[in-house]
Amino acid sequence: MTIPFFPPDVFEDDREALLETVHEVGTAPAQRFILGEHTARLEDALRAWLGAADVVACGSGTTALTLVLTAMGIGAEDEVVIPAFGCAPLASTVVNLGATPVFADVDPWTMVADPEQIESLITPRTRAIMPAHVFSVMADMPRMRQIAERHRLRLLEDSAVAQGAVLDNHPAGRWGEAGVFSFVQVKTFGTAGEGGVVVTDDPALGGTVRMLRNHGQDGQRRFLHHCIGTNSRFDEILAAFQLHRLPGLADRLERRARIADYYTERFAPLAKHSVTAPPPGRNGRCFYVYSLLSERREELQQQLAARGIESHVYYPLPLPRQPAFEGFAAPDQTWPHAEYASRCTLAIPLYPHLTDAQVERIADTVCDFAGGNESR
Ligand SMILES: Cc1ncc(COP(=O)(O)O)c(C=O)c1O
Repeated sequence: MTIPFFPPDVFEDDREALLETVHEVGTAPAQRFILGEHTARLEDALRAWLGAADVVACGSGTTALTLVLTAMGIGAEDEVVIPAFGCAPLASTVVNLGATPVFADVDPWTMVADPEQIESLITPRTRAIMPAHVFSVMADMPRMRQIAERHRLRLLEDSAVAQGAVLDNHPAGRWGEAGVFSFVQVKTFGTAGEGGVVVTDDPALGGTVRMLRNHGQDGQRRFLHHCIGTNSRFDEILAAFQLHRLPGLADRLERRARIADYYTERFAPLAKHSVTAPPPGRNGRCFYVYSLLSERREELQQQLAARGIESHVYYPLPLPRQPAFEGFAAPDQTWPHAEYASRCTLAIPLYPHLTDAQVERIADTVCDFAGGNESR
């Protein structure tokens, strides 16, 4: 039996609940399908869970980033420093506001932006820095805060992949002036559709984002537009579904973390055999994707496939090498660690309903590949 990388049965246990939710919202007298009571309750629940001042649900993680950047006033002439290795919205959200993304190289092991690189790229035009948590590791947010404070820059934390991660007892999403989460299906708090949230401890910023997500209206009076917004409203059926899924989130996160702990323990001896696992531990770690590094990535991927295990290459090109963004890349700059990550990273399955036997089969296969089973 193949072990999928993107499991089609993520919501298998919740299918009845999903259908009930559709029925409940679809037949409720209010006939309210966006930004209603379920969305408000979801925002409240996440606010309480994170201890944040405000949580604003919106249409996707990408628009969550855009809403915050817009609320921060980022636009033409501005530069925003982002990681050179990561997903497209990091760069596209900046570009779509007329601003310029500046690409910072990453740490070769953790693949998150290197704070020293970020600081070295700050110019008089820099308005914001936007670090992102990657796969299994949170960005070095204490240093990002120091840099932002030292240079008086806005700090937006792209925590799209890091729901439930905690660094020094402080949750992901609450390290910047604002953070975002994505609810796209495969994320740790994914849903049966699109969605995301903005998290902030700044009530004014939260209020602006709240207006921006609904064409600049304030929720009190329709067709009075205080600012130029967009449509990034949240779906009521998905809000009710997320409320149903929230109580089980801690257990699902713990299961992910345990699988990751097991992988990391099994893979610890492999570094000298050309497969490197993410750093061990739980502090500042997220368990969204478990990504290995190997110079022999294609061979590893083939061996996994031969044993019925799907794997996935996230980001085969660094952002400044993507056709869409290369025009923004400084011609004399290089990103050797981002190139290395793009060439060597390979993600193996990590989701809560993997069985112990499947987890063991995956670990055995990686260890067999790297010769690590000899050292057991
Ligand atoms: C780091 C990062 N930022 C932003 C996003 C965008 O989120 P969404 O897909 O919900 O728009 C993603 C989603 O894949 C992501 O991984």
